[in-house]
Amino acid sequence: MGGVDQAFVQEPEQRPKPSTIEVDGIPVIDMSVSGTGGIEKLASEIGNACRKWGFFQVINHGVPLELRQRVEKVAKAFFDLPIEEKRKAKRDELNFTGYHDEEHTKNVRDWKEVFDMLIEDPTFLPASPDPDDEEIRTYSNKWPENPPEFRETCQEYCREVEKLAFKLLELISLSLGLPANRLSDFFKHQTGMLRLNYYPPCPSPELALGVGRHRDGGALTVLAQDDVGGLQIRRQSDGEWIPIKPIPNAYIINIADALQVWSNNLYVSAEHRVVVNSERERFSIPLFFFPSHYVKVKPLEELVNEQNPAKYKEYSWGKFYVNRTGSNYKKLEAENLQIDHFKTPESE
Ligand code: OGA
Ligand code: NI
Repeated sequence: MGGVDQAFVQEPEQRPKPSTIEVDGIPVIDMSVSGTGGIEKLASEIGNACRKWGFFQVINHGVPLELRQRVEKVAKAFFDLPIEEKRKAKRDELNFTGYHDEEHTKNVRDWKEVFDMLIEDPTFLPASPDPDDEEIRTYSNKWPENPPEFRETCQEYCREVEKLAFKLLELISLSLGLPANRLSDFFKHQTGMLRLNYYPPCPSPELALGVGRHRDGGALTVLAQDDVGGLQIRRQSDGEWIPIKPIPNAYIINIADALQVWSNNLYVSAEHRVVVNSERERFSIPLFFFPSHYVKVKPLEELVNEQNPAKYKEYSWGKFYVNRTGSNYKKLEAENLQIDHFKTPESE
């Protein structure tokens, strides 16, 4: 079918439309603050974006541009290597970090290659999704030999973007009317990762997707995209797919599932996807900010009361994550685990 293998072909209703509408996109928020009330104003802009879209872009975020350019350069150099070379750093049964080119979203193959690295090395996670299995496994990063500066550059970049993620977490806490550090303890042994995404030109961009529609499972995603464009989010009001305009040196921030649960649905983890094109390759670099494996995710007590009961039952972040990670490898019969599975009757 078309120029791509059947495994990549989306169901007709999931395929991208040839022309997407032009709209005013998601908010662009300037993070430089000055004067009295600066922080409160910034937190309130962020809160509005989190309620309405679950997505926003930030400028003046503090991550050095020079570092971002260096990481973009090593990403390109890595994905330009011959496939045999890239596969030397391939993900395997025991270690999910490294290179892979067989990711599926909702059981259709994504038109992309990725390189994953843990922010914390080592990272601790449950050995299995089984709730009765208490074994914890230790994961370490796998690094390619080439380009030689890959490891150091990625590690340096991770540290800087992580700082931005913690800053955003504080602003989000403030925006919910909570102390700035309310959510910080959940990230003492954070389990997040940095991903380099490479979307090669696709001969049938009308049939395949770079990443199929999904919500990010963690707390927060901080994403750098290049100037090609392709990320789209699903507008809550009408379900329309809205493109996110590339802005040089900005970061795209999105609320992920755990924050939707902590906020008891005040903030939305919005559905998004990536469309590809037949001419240009595209790169993007998300940092997925995830809590410690032992964190039990549930609506924050301060946001729950009799009029507004908890909309989710508590779940273990580590077990949820491990369940999900398994489902990215291969086509599974069942739909993978979603936070909807933890909804309480009050959420209807
Ligand atoms: C993801 C994702 C968007 C992009 O990797 O979860 O949504 O623009 N990526 O690459
Ligand atoms: Ni995503």
